[in-house]
Amino acid sequence: MTTGALNLLDYQDDDAFDRHFSPRIKKLSKLHWSPMAVVKKAAEFLAPSPGSRIIDIGSGAGKFCIAAAQHCPESEFHGIEQRESLYLTALRSKVLSGLDNVHFMHGDFTELNLNPYTGIYFFNSFAENLYTFDRIDNTIQHSASLYNYYTSYLYNILEEKPSGTRLASYHVSENDIPICYELIATDFKNNLKLWISR
Ligand SMILES: C[S@@+](CC[C@H](N)C(=O)[O-])C[C@H]1O[C@@H](n2cnc3c(N)ncnc32)[C@H](O)[C@@H]1O
Repeated sequence: MTTGALNLLDYQDDDAFDRHFSPRIKKLSKLHWSPMAVVKKAAEFLAPSPGSRIIDIGSGAGKFCIAAAQHCPESEFHGIEQRESLYLTALRSKVLSGLDNVHFMHGDFTELNLNPYTGIYFFNSFAENLYTFDRIDNTIQHSASLYNYYTSYLYNILEEKPSGTRLASYHVSENDIPICYELIATDFKNNLKLWISR
């Protein structure tokens, strides 16, 4: 670890993790970034063996990927985020963490080839298109048609993934997950759902 790297103990709870964020990013935490307990449970499921490759669709400030990468050091966690400011925040956190099994990309997930990934984490990233309150910011366009486009795009990608693909969805309707995914377990009042494609 380099000087200034996040201390391992900092990952134990949400407050400690959030301390490294700016006041603006910290304020968004409760609603928009995954709780640490959810991250750990999802990461253990998504990375059942060393060498697993996980993509977080809509990685925000990088909390899921960084905490998961620390929790499962023998697997790789990748995040793609459409907002440049959040992507830059995630990059900064990666440097501070000293982890080398976490990677961030800036862009729209529809432009990414999802073939290389054995697992997918998805925290209802498109819902902001449907609500006018508590948005992260207004630097991007929001619309119901974008919601429908993204949701059906992801549905089709999930359908095409090979048998054995693992998916952890958080605050996502079962209707948005293709029928070929078997629900293996739920937790956190049914909000976290763990799936494997048949
Ligand atoms: C609810 S936050 C989750 C952040 C992170 N996954 C976590 O759990 O801490 C969803 C994020 O998805 C991003 N997002 C929404 N639509 C996207 C798209 N089409 N491509 C890439 N990122 C997107 C948003 O900008 C937001 O940062």
